[in-house]
Amino acid sequence: MGSALATPLYFRHRIADPDPTVKKTMALRPYIVGNWKMHGTRAMLGEARAIDRAAERLMKAEVALAPPFTLIHATRKEADLIGVGAQDCHPAEGGAHTGDISAPMLKDAGASFCIVGHSERRSDHGESDGVVKSKAEAALNAGMSVIVCVGESEAERDAGRAEDVVLAQIEGSVPRGEGVADSVTVAYEPVWAIGTGRTPTTDDIAAMHSAIRNKLVEIFGNSGEGVRILYGGSVNPDNAGEILAIEHVSGALVGGASLTAEKFLGVIVAATGDQRD
Ligand code: 13P
Repeated sequence: MGSALATPLYFRHRIADPDPTVKKTMALRPYIVGNWKMHGTRAMLGEARAIDRAAERLMKAEVALAPPFTLIHATRKEADLIGVGAQDCHPAEGGAHTGDISAPMLKDAGASFCIVGHSERRSDHGESDGVVKSKAEAALNAGMSVIVCVGESEAERDAGRAEDVVLAQIEGSVPRGEGVADSVTVAYEPVWAIGTGRTPTTDDIAAMHSAIRNKLVEIFGNSGEGVRILYGGSVNPDNAGEILAIEHVSGALVGGASLTAEKFLGVIVAATGDQRD
């Protein structure tokens, strides 16, 4: 093996631990992913470094950050232990697409996963389920894992259509194929809960995550049981504990509260009941 520090913490512990029951417990650690969206210049690398340093003590969670493209390489260099990923990719490997970025480029810059289909991409750039699926396939082909985002609008929830909308998005945007389930995570992010301070009730989150689980089993068979389903939308240190305790919630995709180490570590601590020091 090369430098131990170049291997993400969760792999190092899996490799180091020969006990299969421990391995299973490790796989069930909550996956807490920070999505920095269009925030961050090099001045913010100190936050990434602080999150990474703390991750060594917060081993009950698998932690990752998705900074803007411009910071992926530098974040990877600053952070030895946490996952580093991208927020989007183009479906093509390369070509005449000015201003776009391909999955192999992101992988080369140090990304190990890619978020696709975030509602801000779907609305700002008119991305359809088909486009999201091709982006997910491109990321998988480049050797990254993917986080496929889905979520209903407030009008869709008010009309009683939330579950239908979300399941249709999963049907259309989750890639298929042998072994794919191992590299796919789904993030349920109700559009109306993003950046608003509002969250669904725990019952509503439980019902949606359970419906998503059933859909993933329909798509992937038994492997669908192991696909992680994150909740995203106004997760903060005060509500993370309650949300992460809900059945079929395997972690969180965190926007605003991931922008400072202080808040993001608060989310991780709340999610795991871990000690900070
Ligand atoms: P907030 O945590 O800021 O609501 O953002 C959620 C989100 O969109 C993460 O992808």
